[in-house]
Amino acid sequence: MRVAINAETCQGHGRCYDLAPDLFGEDEEGYATLTPLTADGTVPDGREGDIRLAAANCPESAVLVQEE
Ligand code: F3S
Repeated sequence: MRVAINAETCQGHGRCYDLAPDLFGEDEEGYATLTPLTADGTVPDGREGDIRLAAANCPESAVLVQEE
């Protein structure tokens, strides 16, 4: 599984980094970032559910998930 943030559509709702603060971070304006665990776009083993939950809770559908 791979993950990315669509910076064009992220509005800074923060649900992603509230739900999974080790997988998503925030920049100085509150927009989502990836973290050292996800920085290369690869989801750590066993964390797929957390990624899917974050994606499902983003009102802007800005958490992009690619199943592999
Ligand atoms: Fe942005 Fe969605 Fe997270 S709007 S801050 S990616 S919950």
